[in-house]
Amino acid sequence: MQIILLGTAAGGGFPQWNCWCPPCRIARTDPRRAVPRTQSAAALSADGERWFLLNASPDVHAQLGRLPTRAPSGMRYAPVEGVVLTDAELDHTLGLVLLREARFLQVAATRSVRSILENDSALLRVTRAFAEVRAVELPVERPVPLDYRDGCPSGLSVTAFEVPAGPPRFAPKGAAGHTIGLLIRDEATGGTCVYLPGCGGLNESLVARLEAAELVLFDGTFWSDDELIGLGISDRTARQMDHLPLSGPGGSLERLAKLPSRQRVYTHINNTNPMLIEDSPERALVERAGLVVGADGMRFSL
Ligand code: MLT
Ligand code: MN
Ligand code: ZN
Repeated sequence: MQIILLGTAAGGGFPQWNCWCPPCRIARTDPRRAVPRTQSAAALSADGERWFLLNASPDVHAQLGRLPTRAPSGMRYAPVEGVVLTDAELDHTLGLVLLREARFLQVAATRSVRSILENDSALLRVTRAFAEVRAVELPVERPVPLDYRDGCPSGLSVTAFEVPAGPPRFAPKGAAGHTIGLLIRDEATGGTCVYLPGCGGLNESLVARLEAAELVLFDGTFWSDDELIGLGISDRTARQMDHLPLSGPGGSLERLAKLPSRQRVYTHINNTNPMLIEDSPERALVERAGLVVGADGMRFSL
C-alpha cells in the first residue's frame, strides 16, 4: 500500500492565518527554515490509482492535487474512493462539505462520529443535500474492509481503536468512539500502519498496538505541555486539550523512541511547535531519537 501525507499541520494550518508566534513568523519570512504545511490528512491506496482519504481537511482541494491522476474519458473524475474519519473535529471534517460536488461519497466513521456530524456540526446533513453519501459504519476493535465505490474490495482494511481524548467542543460529552486511531492493513503485502493524529495519552495497550505497526503516524501537536500558556495564547495545557506533548517525562518522544517500528512520523503539528523550525534544537532531538517530523507530500510504501 501507498500512503501520502497530504497535510501535516494541526487545525489552522502553518502558518496559521492570524498567528505571529515564532514558527509562524519564520514560515512567512523564510519558508525554507520552517516549511508551510496544510491541515492534517493522509491518503491511502492499494494500487496507486484509487485512493481513500484519512480525514477531510479544510485544505482538501489543494491536497487532492497531490494524488496521481489520469485524464478520464468523462467530464467528472477524482481518484477518491472514500473518506475514513478519526473524529469529528472541524480540521478533520470540514473538507466533507467541500467535496459536495462529488455525486457519491463514501464516509467511514464510528457511530459516535457520525452522530456528531449529523446532529452537532451538521456537516454530513449539509453534504447530503448536494451529494449521495454512503455512511460505512466503523465498529471499534473489528477490521472493516475498505471497498471501492463500485463495491469491489480494495484489499485494504481498517480497524478503529479508541484513544484517550474528549469529544469536540461542540459535541456532547460521554459517547464512546468519538476519537479513534486507525490500524490499516494491506491484505496482499501484510503492510501495517497506525494513523493517530489526535491522542491524549499513551497507555500500555496503545503502545502495544503501535509496536505491531511498521509505520506509525502520530499526534505531534505540541512540543511542551504549557506551550500555549507560555506564548500567552491560551490558558489550557496540551494535555487539557487532549494532545499528549512530545517532551518531558511521559511525553510521546520518549515512548515512541523505544518502538521497534521501522518508521515513526509526527503529524497534526501545531503552528506553535518549535520542531517545525528546521534548525531548532527540538528538531534535532526528534531526529536523534530516530523519529521524523512529518511534512506535506511525504510518501510511504508498505
Ligand atoms: C484539536 O486537534 O484539538 C482540534 O482540532 C481543535 C480545533 O478545533 O482546532
Ligand atoms: Mn485538530
Ligand atoms: Zn503560530
